[in-house]
Amino acid sequence: MAVATQEKETVRPALSSKARAMMEEINAEAGKSHVWVRTQMNAPAQRPWFADTGGKSGGGAMASGRVAANQLKTLPYRWRWKEYSGFLDRIAGIAAKADVSPIEFADRQSILLTNPGLGGRLQVTNTIRCAISIYNSGDIAPAHVHSPNASRTILSEKGGYTNVEGERCDAERGDIILTPNGTWHDHGNESTTPVIWIDMLDWPLMEFLDCAWVDQNFEPGSGTNAKSQDTVHKNGYSTRLYGAGGMVPTFRSPQIGFGRDPAPLIHFRGVKIREMLEALRGETGDPHEAIQMQFVNPVTGKPVFSTLDYKAQLIRPGEELLPKRETCSTFIVVIAGKGKSEIGGETYDWEENDILVVPNFLWRRHINTGRDDAILYTVSDAALLRNIGQYRAQGRDKSDKVVQLVQ
Ligand SMILES: [Fe+2]
Repeated sequence: MAVATQEKETVRPALSSKARAMMEEINAEAGKSHVWVRTQMNAPAQRPWFADTGGKSGGGAMASGRVAANQLKTLPYRWRWKEYSGFLDRIAGIAAKADVSPIEFADRQSILLTNPGLGGRLQVTNTIRCAISIYNSGDIAPAHVHSPNASRTILSEKGGYTNVEGERCDAERGDIILTPNGTWHDHGNESTTPVIWIDMLDWPLMEFLDCAWVDQNFEPGSGTNAKSQDTVHKNGYSTRLYGAGGMVPTFRSPQIGFGRDPAPLIHFRGVKIREMLEALRGETGDPHEAIQMQFVNPVTGKPVFSTLDYKAQLIRPGEELLPKRETCSTFIVVIAGKGKSEIGGETYDWEENDILVVPNFLWRRHINTGRDDAILYTVSDAALLRNIGQYRAQGRDKSDKVVQLVQ
């Protein structure tokens, strides 16, 4: 009897192609119980990332069906200043005449950039949110503190300010002002003309981790208004302490706010950044990045945030960089110059104040097509990826051969 059973099992026909259809029928029911019966293999969109033959576009095949459902992928995109600045002018015009300022009901007068690949979410990459704010004369954004790390990149020539833990940072074009997580900060514009800057935050990452919080309950001191912090330190304070390069003060703690290892140098001056890049323009530079400098925490030598990596690069007139791709996504602000970038096989031309996104894994290369130096500021999540052991980069050499840059 036992032998007969064994024989019967051996000859049982396979379910073959019907199995999938039968399992999908179960899925129709299982979905109500928040269960999915696997009917597809895993298919990350990045495959085959580290094959040398990763293709010119570098993306690999996108997954489909249920496996793809949670694989929203950042797409390359360019926001032109000529297009987005019109929205800023319009909201500033409305705000100037409004009885209730938009800052009161919308927290800011700003536009948020949405990546076309991310389903309308308020983010430009999987980790970065970008808002572009305009402050009319007299506007004040009240003091607050939050878990996301944030920064402003100043587009206007001058006029606005950010106060970070009592340090007044007067904003000028090309400046980067950091508000590390756990630092109280407030913003405003005491000049006579509107000011515009780009806010960047690791907000989507904090949201993904369910760790995004904001505290607006500032206890006012004796400052000029009840919503802002007193100015305890004048403009340039953190630069005097930490901006010398290679030297840090021993008589004070670098701690500002209550976050972990915050970068104590919070105000990088656009003029100085430019000077530094120009002083190095005679160097050969990097074939994929030209003359590039990284913004670091002067106490640790690490990126300014444990999540985001900030860099500035100078590409000389006529300079054509070689292709590169990284596991991080990169957000680019064109501070000066004209050029074009090939990203994932598409070409995007750019000029001053344009903004681009280079998604992770896609090949990209930058070309300065103008007569002047091009200056690009970049923010990427390379810092986070390094911290979790996932940062990798490949380049192509002059013969188009793939070279491992960071394996
Ligand atoms: Fe903030």
